[in-house]
This record gives sequence, structure tokens and C-alpha cells, in this order.
Amino acid sequence: MEPAESGRPAAPAPEPRRAQRLHAAGRLSFRRRVPEVRAQDLPCVVGGEDPPALSDLVPEGYRRVEIEVGPGKGIFLLAAAQAQPETFFLGIEAAVAYGRHAAERLVHAGVRNALLLVDNANLYLGDRIEPGTVDRIHVYYPDPWPKRRHRKRRFFHEGMPEVLARALRPGGHLLVATDNACYAGQIALVLGSSTFLRRDPEEERRLLGGPPGFGFTPTAFERKYLAEGRVLRRYAYRKPEAAA
Ligand SMILES: C[S@@+](CC[C@H](N)C(=O)[O-])C[C@H]1O[C@@H](n2cnc3c(N)ncnc32)[C@H](O)[C@@H]1O
Repeated sequence: MEPAESGRPAAPAPEPRRAQRLHAAGRLSFRRRVPEVRAQDLPCVVGGEDPPALSDLVPEGYRRVEIEVGPGKGIFLLAAAQAQPETFFLGIEAAVAYGRHAAERLVHAGVRNALLLVDNANLYLGDRIEPGTVDRIHVYYPDPWPKRRHRKRRFFHEGMPEVLARALRPGGHLLVATDNACYAGQIALVLGSSTFLRRDPEEERRLLGGPPGFGFTPTAFERKYLAEGRVLRRYAYRKPEAAA
């Protein structure tokens, strides 16, 4: 069991029921299922069929907004919100149980500058965000869907660079980590061949040498994979300043 930030042992993450998991092909079916879950008592918005726009979720007064796609247990989201109290963090999580778990983590820590949204991030980034309004997008250890017939479910596909760049402000960053060599190859190909984003090795070095909560670290899967001795690949991509 992993220790909670308070020093008390954390409750194990509830396993999401299969029916509540994302199915990439089913936009409406996914969004129809989630309103059944009650999360009003937590900083967790269940998107449903018509999720609120980003501008409706960010409280007034925040000049910086960062998004984490698939925060899982919310370890990075909490560390980032604590490390950067003047930035508002939105975690977009497809699995309802993880959304609730991460939201509980924020509440226990007394963090107010972060929120969970239960939705399919692939869709949300494309249709609920004003162009050029997000400072950073974090995607850590996205599901690799190793079976060939499932690969269409991967977060990074050829249309994604444009969607991500549209959401980012000029000069904003996309930060990605994966342990999966095959998926890393696809990510590098998809992002590297796009004109919407540029690899930024200097930012990679800066973040990897810096304190936690700014990019890449810490996450639950990172801890697990480091303990297993896996090779982790971490990439930073920047939206060019000149881009619209
Ligand atoms: C392998 S886990 C990684 C969790 C966390 N980032 C970490 O490093 O510990 C992938 C997470 O992404 C979520 N996820 C998968 N596809 C998603 C999507 N399209 N939109 C939002 N979340 C998604 C999963 O439910 C899961 O919580």
C-alpha cells in the first residue's frame, strides 16, 4: 500500500468497474454512462453528454492553466497543484473510480487549485477548450493498448498534434512519459512528423533536473516502473511562439 501524503496509509484505489471504463469508439455511450455516478461532494465534475467548457471550470483569478490527461490516482496532479499554487490544474480522467480517488486525494491535502473532470480527454481537448488557453498538457504513461486490434484506442494518433496544439498557448508545452518502447516510437513519429509542435530537449533536461510537480514526476506508474527497473522515456514538445 502506498503511503498517503499525510503520513497515514492511503486507502487502496478502487478498481474501476469495466462498464465505467472508456471505450474510445463510443463517445455518446461513454458520456451517457457517467452521470449515474454521484461526485458532487468532491472536486470532481462528471462530464456526461455535454461536459462544461474549460472556461466554466477554471475559477476567476488564475492566469495559468495546466491539464493532465489520465491522472489515475492523482499523484502528479496533487504534487503539481501544491508546487504551483497560482496555476489551476484540470485532470481529465476517463475512469470514474480514479476520478473520485484523485479528487479525494486533493481534498485530504486541502488543495483548492485543482479539479477532476471525468471525460474522454481525446474528445474534451478538441471540443471544449478555447484555442490557445492552456499553458501545459501532461500525459504520463498513457495506456499503450499493446494488442494490434486495440491500437486505435491510443491517445496519440495522427490527428492528436493538431488538437493539442490548438489547445496550447503559443510557447506552451506538451509533456509525455511512457515506458513502452513501441508506443514511444509511435509518439515520436506522430509528434515528430507534425508541424504543430516541436521537440524541446532543453525543457526535458530542465524538468528532469528540477523539483517534482513541474513536469514528468511524480506519478504512480513512474514509481512502479522505476521499481521494476524499466526504461522510461520522457519527451517535451513546444508549440512554436509564432503559431496561432
Ligand atoms: C496507465 S494509467 C496512468 C496513470 C497516471 N498518469 C500515472 O502515471 O500513474 C492511464 C490512465 O489514463 C486514463 N485514461 C485512458 N484513456 C483516457 C482518455 N481518453 N481520457 C482520459 N483518461 C484516460 C486511464 O483511466 C488511467 O487512469
